[in-house]
Amino acid sequence: MNILFMGPPGAGKGTQAERIVEEFDIPHISTGDAFRLAMKQGTPLGQKAKEYVDQGLLVPDDVTNGIVRERLQQDDCAAGFLLDGFPRTISQAEALDEMLAGMNRKLDHVINLKVDRSLLLARLTGRRICKSCGSTYHVLFNPPVEEGVCAKCGGELYQRSDDTEEKVGTRLDEYISKTAPLLAYYDKQDLLREVDGEKEIDTVTAEIADCLRGTE
Ligand code: AP5
Ligand code: MG
Ligand code: ZN
Repeated sequence: MNILFMGPPGAGKGTQAERIVEEFDIPHISTGDAFRLAMKQGTPLGQKAKEYVDQGLLVPDDVTNGIVRERLQQDDCAAGFLLDGFPRTISQAEALDEMLAGMNRKLDHVINLKVDRSLLLARLTGRRICKSCGSTYHVLFNPPVEEGVCAKCGGELYQRSDDTEEKVGTRLDEYISKTAPLLAYYDKQDLLREVDGEKEIDTVTAEIADCLRGTE
């Protein structure tokens, strides 16, 4: 099953992806995670990405497309994949269509997590992530048992450098001007499904799983 998650920053794409990939046994491909890893390792890709990610701006399409093209060709994607945060521009979507056509594959589902802009700032500024395993928490909405400690692996929790009020504003503007037009792109192809991302985390997971199984 080839799945794409869409939605504004903080909609819950990563949170839901962690759960859905476990249930459907497919890899989670997040371009944001890939950039953060490269930035941490200080690779040339990381240095390039940092110029944009730190400002809340989209990384140029050619850089981003290259990462996804390489990743989709790896063996673990053979039975399917879940893309989170890619594509984010019409040009990336066209590049993805080309990559998949070249592999004789196509997208099966595009899930859009709908969350009102007024909720996103609180979600993002309260987000905490595990340094070791990448699990996502929220200080109020999904707190770990012990403050600052990952409930799954005991790792230390940290805050993303782009989760400040100022950068969230830029990220939301980027989303509205460049990424939101993709919803019409996928709707035209009859792939788009809307899920209410404002409900409880477990409820959202169940609704996505129903969509993917075609039992909603
Ligand atoms: P990326 O890492 O993809 O960030 P994003 O799109 O801004 O999305 P987030 O990861 O912030 O939100 P999410 O939807 O995953 O929410 P989460 O589940 O964590 O990209 C970062 C940067 O990389 C970009 O700005 C850009 O620079 C670059 N980049 C990445 N991809 C690119 C591309 N394709 N092209 C160009 N540049 C690219 O949840 C958020 C919080 O809410 C958490 O604390 C969570 O616990 C909480 N929460 C989740 N669900 C619920 C719920 N139902 N109720 C209450 N709280 C909830
Ligand atoms: Mg994410
Ligand atoms: Zn952890």
